[in-house]
Amino acid sequence: MSENWVRVAAASDVAEGTAFPVEINGLTLALYHLEGGQYYCTDNICTHAFALLTDGYLDGNIVECPLHAGQFDVCTGKGLGAPIEEDLQTYKVKVEGGELLVNLPA
Ligand code: FES
Repeated sequence: MSENWVRVAAASDVAEGTAFPVEINGLTLALYHLEGGQYYCTDNICTHAFALLTDGYLDGNIVECPLHAGQFDVCTGKGLGAPIEEDLQTYKVKVEGGELLVNLPA
């Protein structure tokens, strides 16, 4: 599959232990900077109803939706029980020269 790395933010925009919203190419994404330094990216819109996960709560690699407290593993996008029935789309992230790049659908 072809790769389409797009700059989405400066690495310094996303403080460690936080989630950061980005709108790009018609996508609504959430960037996560986990304690320990790893970055991850998922769709920002909860798969249950309409809420932005970046308005929720990040604890380790688990993000909790602000609306009904559904939880996802931000590393895999996996929904972690009710009321979530559908996993989140994830995107690969890399850091280059202090910039965050995400591999978006071409
Ligand atoms: S909208 Fe996210 S859990 Fe309901």
